[in-house]
Amino acid sequence: MIHIVPKPTDTPGDNSTSMVAREITRAGGSYAYLDLARVDPFSSGISGSLVWVCGLSQDEFQFEAVNALSVQNRVINSPLSIFTCASKVLTSALLIRNGIPTPTTCFTSSREIAEHFLARHGQAVIKPVYGYDGNGIVLIRSAAELGDPPYYLQEYVPNMSDYRVFVIDGEAVGAISRSSHTLAHNIHQGGIGKPIEIDDAMAECSVAAAAAVGVDYGGVDLLRRDGGYCVLEVNGTPNWHCMGVNIPRLLAGYLLEQEELMKK
Ligand SMILES: Nc1ncnc2c1ncn2[C@@H]1O[C@H](COP(=O)(O)OP(=O)(O)OP(=O)(O)O)[C@@H](O)[C@H]1O
Ligand SMILES: [Mg+2]
Repeated sequence: MIHIVPKPTDTPGDNSTSMVAREITRAGGSYAYLDLARVDPFSSGISGSLVWVCGLSQDEFQFEAVNALSVQNRVINSPLSIFTCASKVLTSALLIRNGIPTPTTCFTSSREIAEHFLARHGQAVIKPVYGYDGNGIVLIRSAAELGDPPYYLQEYVPNMSDYRVFVIDGEAVGAISRSSHTLAHNIHQGGIGKPIEIDDAMAECSVAAAAAVGVDYGGVDLLRRDGGYCVLEVNGTPNWHCMGVNIPRLLAGYLLEQEELMKK
């Protein structure tokens, strides 16, 4: 039986968790919901199981609870990889380390270094260190807009749209382009998503990015640059809004396959 940690942001009209749960049942598997608010990982009785984290609140308890559960269970995505994805800084470090194209980025607590980066690029995208859904992402042009440290600053890559590629188990299985009238094209910022074909370059850098941050599956955000793509980030608990392929079915299939492997 798969233990499912539901996505805290699910709503009756947009419920990622139940979409996958339904596909698990359809494929002959079974599941139970795991309410982290009512769990003590030391006495949960859950052991040797597959735990699927559809979503996690970015709070200390939820993260540590799944971390503790991962000692005796296979947690997908691994808590470490979910944490890695939640940290833009760690993600950037791993993308750079693995030679995956990503916009030139600066992370510093020094105002002087931040101002120098901004002066060198003329403009820069500033992002909250632990952001989500495109919140707080702004294009700035003057040092007066820097705010308080630390500063995560990125070269602005001119674009009309971005791309979200869904990777499962080392394969790019679906992609959308997202466009909007604002800087961040996230669906939650009003971006319009439409399914697109996955080209080879897109598949290659998305799969490499997912591997670099260590996720079993993830949503990789890309921009076009220099005739190819650069990677902005990987989401470790991604949505699949507007994808043209049946992601819940593919995800359920992957989870059941992994559960089967655990029995061997
Ligand atoms: N360097 C950049 N140049 C141009 N546009 C950018 C840049 N970085 C981000 N954007 C735009 O802002 C959007 C959100 O950025 P990003 O994916 O890095 O953060 P996020 O979605 O808020 O993060 P998370 O998913 O972790 O919450 C991108 O999808 C893209 O549309
Ligand atoms: Mg994003």
